[in-house]
Amino acid sequence: MSAIFGIDFGTSNSALSVNIDGKVRMLDVDSENPISNSLKSILYFLKENGRTKSYVGYEGVKAYIENEADGRYMQSIKTFLPDLAFEKTNVYGKSYTLEELIALFFKVMKQRGQEIIKQEVSDLVLGRPVIFSEDRNRDRIAQERLTRAAQIAGFKNISFQLEPIAAALAYENSLEPGKEQIVLVGDFGAGSSDFTIYKAGNNGGGRAARDRDILSVGGVYIGGDVFDSEIMREKVADHYGKNVQAKSMWSDNLFGLSPLVIRKLMQWHLIPQLRLPRTLDNIKELKVRAKFKDKKLLENLENLIQANYGYLLFRSIEKTKCELSDKKESIINFKDYGINIHELLSRHEFEGFINEKVSLLNACIDSTLAAASLTCSDIDVVFLTGGSSYIPLIRQIFETRIGKDKIRSADAFTSVAYGLGLQGALMN
Ligand SMILES: Nc1ncnc2c1ncn2[C@@H]1O[C@H](COP(=O)(O)OP(=O)(O)OP(=O)(O)O)[C@@H](O)[C@H]1O
Ligand SMILES: [Mg+2]
Repeated sequence: MSAIFGIDFGTSNSALSVNIDGKVRMLDVDSENPISNSLKSILYFLKENGRTKSYVGYEGVKAYIENEADGRYMQSIKTFLPDLAFEKTNVYGKSYTLEELIALFFKVMKQRGQEIIKQEVSDLVLGRPVIFSEDRNRDRIAQERLTRAAQIAGFKNISFQLEPIAAALAYENSLEPGKEQIVLVGDFGAGSSDFTIYKAGNNGGGRAARDRDILSVGGVYIGGDVFDSEIMREKVADHYGKNVQAKSMWSDNLFGLSPLVIRKLMQWHLIPQLRLPRTLDNIKELKVRAKFKDKKLLENLENLIQANYGYLLFRSIEKTKCELSDKKESIINFKDYGINIHELLSRHEFEGFINEKVSLLNACIDSTLAAASLTCSDIDVVFLTGGSSYIPLIRQIFETRIGKDKIRSADAFTSVAYGLGLQGALMN
């Protein structure tokens, strides 16, 4: 019985499938995860009684919250793959390369998967986004780093498939054999949005035939994380002094938080970087000069940096965003660490915040269609996957341009991994 694993290493969720003698199934690698059987792509380190303990997935989320945001919590690790500046990070005195960190994560997936199927697995099909980076050198390095991480985790034969192509294979598998369709696949994740136009229905062909069925691929680095940042910018950052202005000591000019501080405030994992003396000085100086009511907002910011609760704050923002996929309005609620945020957000407002980004997604769909020499009317079916595909404004792109009746979807969090499992059969 030969077994091949398929791993969809996502920015926020990762899923594992197995192909055993041509049959694919999903493996539950995180039984505690309330959303699906995928593993939250996070690592959490905590020093307890002199020993460093590491956690992954939902267990890590829970431990981080229980320990009141103490320790080192790492999310969106995939985002760093094309970042050449990230070489090593020190965790409680031990240095880790990015590959070693991701390997910790892969190792857990491998072990849990092997326990379920009761056999060792050394063959792996890994997913990758269409674009890690516009820069070809960085893109190549990102894939090499992912390969190295899989090797450190103990995989021997490693191959790659593009995430939206894997999703296309998953969709195709649900069709009656021989039913040929031109499918536009949209995979809207946390870090990126990826597209494929694919001729589905020729299930019988080998790998070369399958490759010919891929008519075009496209992708942009825009996903759910960016939408969370937009909510932070427009609705929450005010509570942290984003708009505070004060008179400079040296002239009548007004000054506020530096653009660097504001930029880092929009991404929770960059908030700890605001601990640099230079940025703390900027906040302190502004606090001294600010009006009385504004001083409190800057204290909130200092406290956010000090207590490092950005992750918990962004979780509330993300929760509100997800609720807006089903409801017309929702409330961003955050009452902890001496702050009380209660902001009503309507779907309409949210759509205004992300409109510009959605235009970029639309442009990417245009270029993917153009690369296949097709127009919207040539598309038989749109297959949507990835958590951000639940956002009504995103679905609307396809409803308007291609037609509501042509839209299909399946489990948004596991289609890619399932398709990677199917790809496993093409490897043999
Ligand atoms: N109901 C929902 N409405 C809107 N967004 C949602 C919903 N459910 C999940 N999301 C968002 O979907 C994203 C996670 O989706 P997914 O698991 O497909 O991403 P990923 O595979 O980890 O990322 P990527 O493929 O970009 O690496 C998160 O940004 C999350 O906030
Ligand atoms: Mg994904």
